[in-house]
Amino acid sequence: MTAIHIDTLQNWKTKKNKFAAITAYDFSFSKLFANQGIPVILVGDSLGMTIQGHNSTIPVTIQNIEYHTKAVRKGAPNVFLISDLPFMSYYQVNQALKNTAKIIQSGANMIKIEGGKHLINIIKELSNRSILVCGHIGLTPQYINYLNGYKVQGKTEKSAKKIIEDALLLEDAGIKMLVLECIPSVLAKIITEKLSIPVIGIGAGRYTDGQILVMQDILGITEGKKLKFVKNFLSQSGSIQNAIQTYIDEVKKGIFPNQKYSF
Ligand code: KIV
Repeated sequence: MTAIHIDTLQNWKTKKNKFAAITAYDFSFSKLFANQGIPVILVGDSLGMTIQGHNSTIPVTIQNIEYHTKAVRKGAPNVFLISDLPFMSYYQVNQALKNTAKIIQSGANMIKIEGGKHLINIIKELSNRSILVCGHIGLTPQYINYLNGYKVQGKTEKSAKKIIEDALLLEDAGIKMLVLECIPSVLAKIITEKLSIPVIGIGAGRYTDGQILVMQDILGITEGKKLKFVKNFLSQSGSIQNAIQTYIDEVKKGIFPNQKYSF
């Protein structure tokens, strides 16, 4: 696979070529995903749950993200690699710069941060230093206590307007990509059309430029209540390789996510 850059993803948005992204946390899986043609991998702070067994992303540290970013980069040298800045690791500009440096030095192409308007200064400071920043709005798991649990966001007119406003403000501040999590498809469609940068959805319906899922959800090994937007691609694929291939193909063709997997 030739190296994927931010320009590649930007071109795909312009040409309306949909793309699949996935989380990964280690060498073996990132290698397998890259070999199947996954262009974008996220070292998500979901590792707090999927790798560490916590019930939220809150306990994840910057050292954890560094460790997993290094492993994933070794397995997938050419993918476009995004890594999360974890909970409270970017509440001040200096701290955000210092922690971003650690993550980029570990091999990430871009860092992802959760939240809206209050991040504008931090995004501007990072962008001024040519750091690629991905925003993340809608359901933002780092704010889980404030949000009263994992719930679909943007269902009222007021909250939908706020999400649109945040998306525009973040783009204006300099983000080069946006993740929309758990919002109604119609809202994600409006945001995807308004923004000129690539928008990736998880539980945000079919209209976003790209889709991302947590690898354990794709492989059907997440325990507990099945989330509406999650599809087990392994059950009918016979192998992990085929499951990933099916996921990539279905996203590219706009088959996944259909109404069944959307809000
Ligand atoms: O941490 C993560 O895995 C994420 C995805 C859900 C987008 O942020």
